[in-house]
Amino acid sequence: MPPTIIVEKEGLLPLSSYRTQGKPWSFSKAITCLIVALTCTCTSFYLLGVLEFPELSFSEEDDVSSLAHLCPQPPALTPSVHADLWQDLGSSLQTEEFVNRSVDWLAGAVRIPTQSYDKMGPINEDERWKAFEPFHDYLQSSFPKVHSVLTVTKVNAYGLVYEWIGSNRDLKPLLLAAHQDVVPVNPDTLDDWVHPPFSGHFDGKLLWGRGSSDDKNGLIGILSTIEVLIEKGFNPRRSIVLAFGFDEEASGLYGARFISYHLLDKYGKNGFAMLVDEGGDYMEEYGKVIATIGTAEKGYFDVRVEVESPGGHSSVPPEHTTIGILSALVAHIEKNPYKPHLGRGTPMYEKALCMAAHLPELPKPLREALQKAPTSDSALHEAEAILFKDKLFKALVGTTQAVDLIQGGVKTNALPESAWAVVNHRIATDSSVAAVQDRDTEVVLSLAQEFNLSVTAFGKQLSGEGVPAYGKLVLSDAWGASLEPAPLTPTGDAAAYQLLAGTVKATYSSHRGLDDTDDVVVSPGHMSGNTDTRYYWQLTPHIFRYNHHFTGKNSLFQDIHTVNEFISVDAYIEVLRFFTTLILNVDESSAL
Ligand SMILES: *[C@@H]1O[C@H](CO)[C@@H](O)[C@H](O)[C@H]1NC(C)=O
Ligand SMILES: *[C@@H]1O[C@H](CO)[C@@H](O)[C@H](O)[C@H]1NC(C)=O
Ligand SMILES: [Zn+2]
Repeated sequence: MPPTIIVEKEGLLPLSSYRTQGKPWSFSKAITCLIVALTCTCTSFYLLGVLEFPELSFSEEDDVSSLAHLCPQPPALTPSVHADLWQDLGSSLQTEEFVNRSVDWLAGAVRIPTQSYDKMGPINEDERWKAFEPFHDYLQSSFPKVHSVLTVTKVNAYGLVYEWIGSNRDLKPLLLAAHQDVVPVNPDTLDDWVHPPFSGHFDGKLLWGRGSSDDKNGLIGILSTIEVLIEKGFNPRRSIVLAFGFDEEASGLYGARFISYHLLDKYGKNGFAMLVDEGGDYMEEYGKVIATIGTAEKGYFDVRVEVESPGGHSSVPPEHTTIGILSALVAHIEKNPYKPHLGRGTPMYEKALCMAAHLPELPKPLREALQKAPTSDSALHEAEAILFKDKLFKALVGTTQAVDLIQGGVKTNALPESAWAVVNHRIATDSSVAAVQDRDTEVVLSLAQEFNLSVTAFGKQLSGEGVPAYGKLVLSDAWGASLEPAPLTPTGDAAAYQLLAGTVKATYSSHRGLDDTDDVVVSPGHMSGNTDTRYYWQLTPHIFRYNHHFTGKNSLFQDIHTVNEFISVDAYIEVLRFFTTLILNVDESSAL
């Protein structure tokens, strides 16, 4: 995940905070509700009022069995052709010998710092890329079977593409992706690490260090799984291709981007059966474990807002300088945030339905609203009002804006001729770069005209052409690096989705020796940030961002990009079980 992500774990919904707010519904709020009666927001007010009475709003455990249709669950999928091999591998995964070996493989990888920084220079100019050389040597010596059976192609020097050719060339290959690089460790934080960031220290339960859970667990997890499969004599029917970028944390410009050209060239458009990369995870929420498979990604757009006006000496100032005008524009932008809407068919809508259908301790009003949401707009608005109380959920659903950069002026006695700011947007999955352009333009247009500025927005002159103006407002794409929201991955009955969801269920229950495969709910959804898959859209429509990584209960949540990154060895062994089950299931599937 790139470092710009605030939170990667979209499953957290601290709606439980409502449980402690026992304030009675106030008279003034009731009046407000009356005043706004007959508008859809009234029902929202009403609902929030009810929510403040915890004893009315919550039952310890609801019987949700009648709501399953809101979020049908594919059956657990265990390998059948390869049943014996799967059983055999499953039992060896739990042995101390295997755990030791897996920990050593991952710890060794964590010990090699492969940090990628923003704005790195080209491969042969920036010395820092050389950090990947010892990492490649490490992979080569640690996974001898992988390196003798699979072919390795280095793409743009440090990108790694492995190909394990299957016996049936007619089958589209499985593509597994991960990234070699890690988020840089801020030297100022070194004292805060319990164990040094590149120690790979294993304390018997947790393996510590940068990359241990993002994303060397994925990369080493895949290679370890394949090394062991080869040792056991497995030969795939369907080819398996591995794509390991090396600057995912810096937008993948040199890694995944070049790998995508290579794969597109070799395998063609839609050349792969499915793609699984890092991303979603599973956690316990409202009385049940829910696994969220990333089936979309938000778009990204940095808009530069620049004001120009005549300079001059500041002893004879105009009423407003460019800085003053820009400030007014920025304040106006913040006063007009994007209104999020939980569009039917979007991944977060699907996720909300899955929560309603399967999480027994979900707040009752939310469940009831969601139950009716598919056919009732007012129920959908009620659900939104509750869900958007959760900042993260709200941010995941809507287009966000954040003014992150500002600059203007050079000297205290000179009027600034220009001032600019950059507004960062994460675009809702059902919106677009063009919609953001239109909406940003609309928000600032009339204010700009009040300041007597001509307006040029995204290359189009909108006002003031030929008419004298005091100054100029120019809106533009800040770095030419905008990104549309990713195409939605087919879910529901789509074979690839069913296979992955079934694999998640089989992995979860077999890891725990459970017979009941309904212990985990599988849901579509997405994270707030982007992955290397942003470059892989053309390779297959079946793109999944999911690495079956347990992130615990809400309270155990930790931000992987900050200090003290770790992975529990039990969680890691389950990751290996996930890749093993996935590879075998994909190999014998006739539906893909
Ligand atoms: C696993 O490693 C631990 C130390 O980390 C060691 O005490 C133990 O003997 C090892 N077990 C096996 C089966 O190699
Ligand atoms: C806008 O500024 C121009 C140039 O200074 C001036 O000629 C024009 O009269 C102004 N228009 C308004 C409406 O103030
Ligand atoms: Zn990552």
